[in-house]
Amino acid sequence: MTEIQATGSTTGPIVEVRGIGKRFGNIIALSDVTTEVRAGEVTCVLGDNGAGKSTLIKILAGAHAHTDGELLIDGQVTTFGSPREALTAGIATVYQDLAVVPLMPVWRNFFLGSEPTKGRGPFKRMDIGFMKKTSKEELAAMGIDLRDVDQPIGTLSGGERQCVAIARAVYFGARVLILDEPTASLGVKQSGVVLKYIVKARDCGLGVVFITHNPHHAFPVGDRFMLLRRGKSIGNFPKSEMTMEELTSLMAGSAELETLSQELERSLGPDSELAKKIEAEVEA
Ligand SMILES: Nc1ncnc2c1ncn2[C@@H]1O[C@H](COP(=O)(O)OP(=O)(O)O)[C@@H](O)[C@H]1O
Ligand SMILES: [Mg+2]
Repeated sequence: MTEIQATGSTTGPIVEVRGIGKRFGNIIALSDVTTEVRAGEVTCVLGDNGAGKSTLIKILAGAHAHTDGELLIDGQVTTFGSPREALTAGIATVYQDLAVVPLMPVWRNFFLGSEPTKGRGPFKRMDIGFMKKTSKEELAAMGIDLRDVDQPIGTLSGGERQCVAIARAVYFGARVLILDEPTASLGVKQSGVVLKYIVKARDCGLGVVFITHNPHHAFPVGDRFMLLRRGKSIGNFPKSEMTMEELTSLMAGSAELETLSQELERSLGPDSELAKKIEAEVEA
């Protein structure tokens, strides 16, 4: 396994956002969000659909430039111009819709876009032997036991595919690993497997950002929790200040109010007094 670089002389966060926001025209997808990601810690970002979770991680991943606030990497104010810049800074992202080529073998997907070569000039070609051997070893080192790295990645379960993506980020020396709802479409058992690799990545010294809407997935692995509602942060809690019950009720409370306000808006229209009152409570 490749060496994971320590954060240097400082013990500060690798990534920090201060009052960060993103507007798309006049749609405010995210506003005034503050949190941090430290080496060897799991930062969980929780929130319902449309809360702004993906928007936040796309800013960290260099896919969107933020329109408000500050992004700091190793304490330096930064704006990523592209996903490549974020990768260069050591931030690897596994998106909700995994970017894999289903018919290609596991080893090919493991090295996709960073294929090692051997030979020179006209004899230069992909080093298939190295790729097969290394991907097998790296997956085994993470405790992922695949029958055959030659099988098309499309034949793996959703959980196994997430694990390949995590092992890949660790191998390529990521310092920060962002996972956008990796357990969203998985059953209980497979979710457990993915949670196990999240912990493995953390123990390798990576700063992990774990996005989920499930407090039962977040609580056991999270070191800090950031809750989003309608693009705004409703709190940042270290694990020591939070119980499973509190996290669950915060999430449930937010979901209920949200549904209620949407139903009222539909039946009463957004301008009615009652809808406005509920809206104010949701915003509070
Ligand atoms: N490219 C975009 N253009 C306009 N609005 C967007 C865009 N991306 C996201 N949004 C809006 O921002 C809000 C948050 O979306 P998103 O970050 O995807 O939420 P989540 O991942 O928490 O479900 C949503 O209301 C969504 O419609
Ligand atoms: Mg999302």
